Amino acid sequence: MAVNLRGRSFLKMLDFSPAEIRYLLDLSKNFKDMKRTHTPHRLLEGRNIVLLFEKTSTRTRCSFEVAGRDLGMGVTYLDPGSSQMGNKESIADTARVLGRMFDGIEYRGYKQELVEELAKFSGVPVWNGLTDQYHPTQMLADLLTIEEKLGRLKGVKFTYMGDARNNMGNSLMVACAKMGLHFTACAPKELFPEEGLVDVCKKLAEESGGSVTLTEDVEAGTKGTDVIYTDIWVSMGEPKEVWETRIKLLQKYQVNAKVMANAAQDAIFMHCLPSFHDTKTSIGADIFEKFGLPEMEVTDEVFESKQSVVFDEAENRMHTIKAVMYATLC
Ligand code: CP
Ligand code: NVA
Repeated sequence: MAVNLRGRSFLKMLDFSPAEIRYLLDLSKNFKDMKRTHTPHRLLEGRNIVLLFEKTSTRTRCSFEVAGRDLGMGVTYLDPGSSQMGNKESIADTARVLGRMFDGIEYRGYKQELVEELAKFSGVPVWNGLTDQYHPTQMLADLLTIEEKLGRLKGVKFTYMGDARNNMGNSLMVACAKMGLHFTACAPKELFPEEGLVDVCKKLAEESGGSVTLTEDVEAGTKGTDVIYTDIWVSMGEPKEVWETRIKLLQKYQVNAKVMANAAQDAIFMHCLPSFHDTKTSIGADIFEKFGLPEMEVTDEVFESKQSVVFDEAENRMHTIKAVMYATLC
């Protein structure tokens, strides 16, 4: 059956079938080709979108801005704290106002319920640019990158190391389960994803030919794997006091040369970014001063290695976000 996503919101990968995800990936490839060949694609000329950010961003914001302009749209950015939303105006009221002015709304914030509520009340497509629970636009970029680098999705062995119950851990487990990858969360038990979501993903994986495994064992969890993925140990919105316990829990799950050597020979390293792989950031320098750690979730050696595809992944944010906006607004 033909896929039609017109008018849909993009809130989490769980809402989309494998065929719909496939369609978005193929569309992303077309947009990437058009961008590469400088073929104009102002297919949504005259439309307007608003980007609401309650947390900071580089990739997601820039992807929505550039993709929106490439498609011919007007783009309005509202930075953290600069709108009335939440303080003086409810989400439902904000949604109904924005829905009268804009053709689509991007939202990055805290609770998943907020983005769901925006979608319920605005009457226009809403795109989740990251919540505490999910980061779905990142998933499309990651799947596209894996397919470009390894030539396939089905059957790929994928290992996520680190905080496996944050937005990235949750989203990657769902995305892999839907698309037939063998997903392993390699993390301490305290940071395993929530049981209910694991059960849902195990069922999805049965249907797609993939699998879902949780392990605390770094050696077993990374043996022969095709993709090693990690994320920062403390996410946006978490208090800085958690660094100490998080470092204790996650230090042995750092992606380093030994981990990469245990993976498949042509394994790739992925990270949604930003990353603490050196002391060239204020937080990185602060952690070094307090805990003596010069690199955190990934060593600089791995981050800068040939196996690292993190900047291709970052570029793909733009092509895939363009596909989502086009598919839902066209
Ligand atoms: N990966 C990602 O979402 O990056 P930003 O926080 O810079 O948007
Ligand atoms: N888990 C990270 C992802 C950043 C893209 C965070 O929420 O800060």
